[in-house]
Amino acid sequence: MTEISKPNILITGTPGAGKSYLCERLATQLKFNWLDCSKIAKENNFIEEYDKEYDCPILDEDKLMDYLEPLMAKGGNIVEYHGCDFFPERWFQAVFVVKCPNETLYDRLKERNYNEKKLTSNIQCEIFGTILEEARESYKKDIIYELSGETKADAQNSLKTVKNWYSMWKRK
Ligand SMILES: Nc1ncnc2c1ncn2[C@@H]1O[C@H](COP(=O)(O)OP(=O)(O)O)[C@@H](O)[C@H]1O
Ligand SMILES: [Mg+2]
Repeated sequence: MTEISKPNILITGTPGAGKSYLCERLATQLKFNWLDCSKIAKENNFIEEYDKEYDCPILDEDKLMDYLEPLMAKGGNIVEYHGCDFFPERWFQAVFVVKCPNETLYDRLKERNYNEKKLTSNIQCEIFGTILEEARESYKKDIIYELSGETKADAQNSLKTVKNWYSMWKRK
C-alpha cells in the first residue's frame, strides 16, 4: 500500500454520532470517494441474516471486504462504518472516531425510530466508548484520532482536523 497517492481514511463511531454528516463534507472538500459500508451492504445484499431483536441486518463482513479490496488498493477513500475491528489494518492510514454526548445521541436515535433495545445498546456503546476501544485494539495508537460530532461547529473543527492530517500525510 506504500505507493498509493491518496490515503484511505476510516471514519467510525456509534450510530448517530455524526459520521455521515462529516463524511459527506469531507468527501466533497477533499475529493475522496465516500464508502458508507451500511449503505453498500444493503445495496449489494452483503447481509448474513436479520437480527429481529435489535431490528438490524447482520453484515456479511467477507463479502463487504471482497468488494472493498480493489477500491482500497487505489486509495482516496473515506470509509464509514459503526465498527472497525474486522477491516485489514493495512487499509487505513488514519482512523477517526466520531463521538457524541449521550443526550444528543439519544434524540438523534429516537428520531430514527430505533426500538428501546437498540436505542439502549447504542447509548451504552457510546457511554462505554466501545468503538474507541475497538479502534485501539485494532490499529496503532498513533493513527487514531477522536472527533466530536455534536454541533455544526464541531463538524467544522473535525473537517479542519482531517484536512490538516491529510496535509501532513502528503508531506511525508
Ligand atoms: N456535527 C453535527 N452538527 C449537527 N448535526 C449533526 C452533526 N452530525 C450529525 N448531525 C445530525 O445527526 C443525525 C445523525 O447523523 P449521521 O451523520 O447520519 O450519523 P451516523 O452516520 O454516525 O449514523 C443527522 O440528522 C445529522 O444531520
Ligand atoms: Mg452514517
